[in-house]
Amino acid sequence: MKFKKTAKGSIAYCQYTPSSIEPNWFAADFWRQQSAITGSSKGRYTTWFVDANSVGKAQNQWVLRHYYRGGLIEKISRDQYLFTGLEKTRAVAELALLENLYQQGFAVPKPIAANVERSGLFYRADLIIERVEGAEDLVARLSKAAMTDAQWLVLGETIAEFHNHGVYHADLNAKNILICDDKFYLIDFDRGELRKPNSQWQQANMSRLLRSFRKELGKLPTLAFNDGNWQQLHQGYLAKLNH
Ligand SMILES: Nc1ncnc2c1ncn2[C@@H]1O[C@H](COP(=O)(O)OP(=O)(O)O)[C@@H](O)[C@H]1O
Ligand SMILES: [Mg+2]
Repeated sequence: MKFKKTAKGSIAYCQYTPSSIEPNWFAADFWRQQSAITGSSKGRYTTWFVDANSVGKAQNQWVLRHYYRGGLIEKISRDQYLFTGLEKTRAVAELALLENLYQQGFAVPKPIAANVERSGLFYRADLIIERVEGAEDLVARLSKAAMTDAQWLVLGETIAEFHNHGVYHADLNAKNILICDDKFYLIDFDRGELRKPNSQWQQANMSRLLRSFRKELGKLPTLAFNDGNWQQLHQGYLAKLNH
């Protein structure tokens, strides 16, 4: 990972990221002005899909996300975090984890860059990663079509591989899993970290995922998810997990 200073803070960027990267690139308005916004995903906040060709060099589609706080604190400061060092910022930590995983061949989006803007004791931050072409998250996918038993099994195996490597995902849910052809990607590693493999946090990750599928099923009763699917996933997971 490389760093460069900007007017208000720093940018951390990866090996193949154009070194001309600047703070503008982390602002949706910059892309809007060039008609380069190709889509968005609206949850509580908006994730932007942008066409990076317009800035030259990168021939790719990127995903742009700003970090927002949740919970009560949100009412006090929507997107400011206490600065305790660049490497500890949400964005640089997520970029570093993604870079580590991507280089080791894990199915995660290619990391591009993180932007940190200081203001006094606080910072605001953004992240750019590559868009996984042709992928959709599992809620989008399962609202249209079912997955086969074999696919559920592979998903379980994929999660086990991350867990064997000690990858703790702070928010493993159905929207943070992408499917592209028969391959699964994990995304959204905010507050994720490498931990000593241990069944406690691993099971907590799995319970959270099951709760998420059930919650989505509650919202959309036609979602293609049932207990049999979970059993397949769990079987694949246990078969791959190092005990
Ligand atoms: N790299 C990516 N490739 C394709 N789609 C993505 C990618 N990253 C995010 N998405 C889509 O955008 C949604 C929101 O992105 P995410 O990073 O999870 O932000 P948040 O959960 O904070 O809204 C995902 O659920 C997924 O549908
Ligand atoms: Mg998410």
